[in-house]
Amino acid sequence: MVHASGPPPQVHKNRRDWHNLRSMLPFLWEFRGRALFALACLVLSKTANVGVPVALKAIIDYYEQASRAELTAAMPLLLLLAYGLLKLSASLFNELRDVVFAKVRYRAMRRLSTRVLNHLLKLSLRYHLERKTGAISRDLERGTRSVSQILNYMAFSILPIVVEFSLVATIMLHNYDPVFAGAMFGSVVLYMVFTFLVTEWRMDFRHHMNELDSRGNSIAFDSLINYETVKYFGNERLQLQRYDDTLEQWEYWAVKSQNSMSLLNFGQGAIIALSVTLMMVLAARSVSAGEMRIGDLVMVNAFLLQLFIPLGFLGVVYRQIKYALADMDLVFKLLDTEPEIRDAPDARPLEVSEGRITFEHVDFSYQPERQILHDVSFEVPPGHKVAVVGHSGAGKSTLSRLIFRFYDVQAGCVCIDGQDVREVSQESLRAAIGIVPQDTVLFNDSIYFNIAYGRPEASREEVIEAARMACILDFIERLPDGWDTVVGERGLKLSGGEKQRVAIARAILKRPRILIFDEATSSLDSHTEQAIQQTLEAVAADHTTLVIAHRLSTVVDADQILVMDQGRIVERGTHTELLRAGGAYKAMWELQQQEADEQGDENAAES
Ligand SMILES: Nc1ncnc2c1ncn2[C@@H]1O[C@H](COP(=O)(O)OP(=O)(O)OP(=O)(O)O)[C@@H](O)[C@H]1O
Ligand SMILES: [Mg+2]
Repeated sequence: MVHASGPPPQVHKNRRDWHNLRSMLPFLWEFRGRALFALACLVLSKTANVGVPVALKAIIDYYEQASRAELTAAMPLLLLLAYGLLKLSASLFNELRDVVFAKVRYRAMRRLSTRVLNHLLKLSLRYHLERKTGAISRDLERGTRSVSQILNYMAFSILPIVVEFSLVATIMLHNYDPVFAGAMFGSVVLYMVFTFLVTEWRMDFRHHMNELDSRGNSIAFDSLINYETVKYFGNERLQLQRYDDTLEQWEYWAVKSQNSMSLLNFGQGAIIALSVTLMMVLAARSVSAGEMRIGDLVMVNAFLLQLFIPLGFLGVVYRQIKYALADMDLVFKLLDTEPEIRDAPDARPLEVSEGRITFEHVDFSYQPERQILHDVSFEVPPGHKVAVVGHSGAGKSTLSRLIFRFYDVQAGCVCIDGQDVREVSQESLRAAIGIVPQDTVLFNDSIYFNIAYGRPEASREEVIEAARMACILDFIERLPDGWDTVVGERGLKLSGGEKQRVAIARAILKRPRILIFDEATSSLDSHTEQAIQQTLEAVAADHTTLVIAHRLSTVVDADQILVMDQGRIVERGTHTELLRAGGAYKAMWELQQQEADEQGDENAAES
């Protein structure tokens, strides 16, 4: 579950929010000059903005005096000019701030996104198998967007309000009875407290909404990923039902959330109406008493209206910031997740001298309750070919995951040329090994991209040669779009055998010292399999090779065959030795021979 824990306790949450906000600072540091400049623009823009009512008051005062003195009222040209210029500068500096700040904001977003993806790639296989990719990508998206939102609200909502409020308060305190500043301050505080309280109460609704939204999306995502499975079992209705059940709950909380927002908006509107009226009454009384002039009344009114315009958005901003903080928490929590498999502090690059793989008394389990490998020891000497055979689920593919160090063993060790895989850097380890995995998944890109992926710096000729060796060149050249054919999500537009050959081609292209073939030819017909077998033998000639196979006929030439059963090596030896021993291997061999004979008979009968 993604948000199963719900909102954490308040104190803890606030501390996390501050922690998260602080974690954002380094992203801004890169453009600190720009950020400061944007801040200066903000102050200038607000000063000009506050200056507008002041100019207005001066103009009104001028006319008032002029008419009293019964002068012919010439136009106060300078004042009018000042009024216009102030309005213009307010807008100019406002836009300038946006222009200057844009780069800060988008750079911070870009840096964070890259950091997060980098981190996700570092997290171990277990993490990715346990979490739903759809949910991760949504967290990622919401999380990075939240950073931009927070920066936005800070720069464009919170700070401007603070600056404008301080300027107005200074002017009021300086010129009028403190009761004005007091009333203004009081209503703003009342407004804020009301907003915060109601928003806090509403937050829960929003959390439920988010959680259900994620859940619904991951159901939809899942049913689309498993499109074929859904169709095979005719389970569209079931999927829809699950989706709709979630949306039903979502709808309940969404309506609640919307209604409570209307309540909040109305409350805010009421406070604004009350306080503006109060201020006007105060001002009108002072004018009647001759303590203030009409210009003052107009100015106070203009100040208030101007101040309450952005304040009207404060509720929205507060809510959005809270949501953004919640979203941001997801992304920073993700960044705080420690990868399970990490390079040792003193990890050195793997030095491959001969390419010897050694397993020494390896015990391994994915989960503590269920041990998968029991005391597995074997060695693949340099340049040799060792085959692993055994029933499904015996732990064969697990061996390859351990060589790649996707998991750490619980006991014993896996070594390459005498170096424990836990003591060398993962990058160098993985660079030294090539694999044709059991299930090949391809990038949704061109065939060329997918093969060249084995060694991106390879020349086009090398890529073509690799494809030729993997017996897939003819196929590619016959395609209408040739090398540019896009293989579909996860490579689903290719057949199983075609995918396998793409995987073989890219392993060939990688030219590693150590090769692992995990059922590399299991999806191929016998004819293609034979053709590829020769290629693989040629490629593997001077390489250390671990071959995992079901079809025993493909491993008869191996230097050693390990027979695995339930995580243990139960027999080992060459093909002839194992046949002579008359154990599990012999039984498997005979069974497969028999099947092959039967098939041969059938084919003969058909033709
Ligand atoms: N990530 C995982 N978490 C928990 N258990 C796992 C995980 N991956 C594999 N297993 C279990 O470990 C056992 C060995 O799996 P493995 O993939 O090594 O089998 P295999 O010998 O390659 O089988 P096959 O011939 O079917 O490919 C299986 O019983 C499997 O259920
Ligand atoms: Mg397997």
